[in-house]
Amino acid sequence: MPKVTFIIDGQERTVEFEHGKLEYSHHGLPESFLDVAMNLDIPLEHACGGSCACTTCHVIVRKGMQNLSGMEDDEADRLDTAWDLTTESRLGCQAIIRGDVVVEIPMYTRNYVQEGGGIQLGKSSRPGAAAASKSPEVSS
Ligand code: FES
Repeated sequence: MPKVTFIIDGQERTVEFEHGKLEYSHHGLPESFLDVAMNLDIPLEHACGGSCACTTCHVIVRKGMQNLSGMEDDEADRLDTAWDLTTESRLGCQAIIRGDVVVEIPMYTRNYVQEGGGIQLGKSSRPGAAAASKSPEVSS
């Protein structure tokens, strides 16, 4: 039974769940941090509903990285846009928990909806991608 500790504003909250027994919250991948948080009343932001289209569910893994699913390319691409990115960063909606883990929820997360910036689904954050997709400038 995985034990998951969330560090929120310096305070630890530890929850446990049994594999295959959580009711799927339809937020993020089943048994991801976001799914566990939604089930067990942990306040983890999730502006895109857990579809890997924002960074509000950003968590920093303090212990137990080996107990998480591997990172897919779409998660890595999205994480590149996260504020305060670290080598221990994961998206809470994409990282599936397979054993004991401790994560910290960063003080600031980028919540496009609450900050009024609008979500730009599918827009690449890769350098040069925006320039390549722009229409040629028209000079007058
Ligand atoms: S909730 Fe948007 S990427 Fe995880």
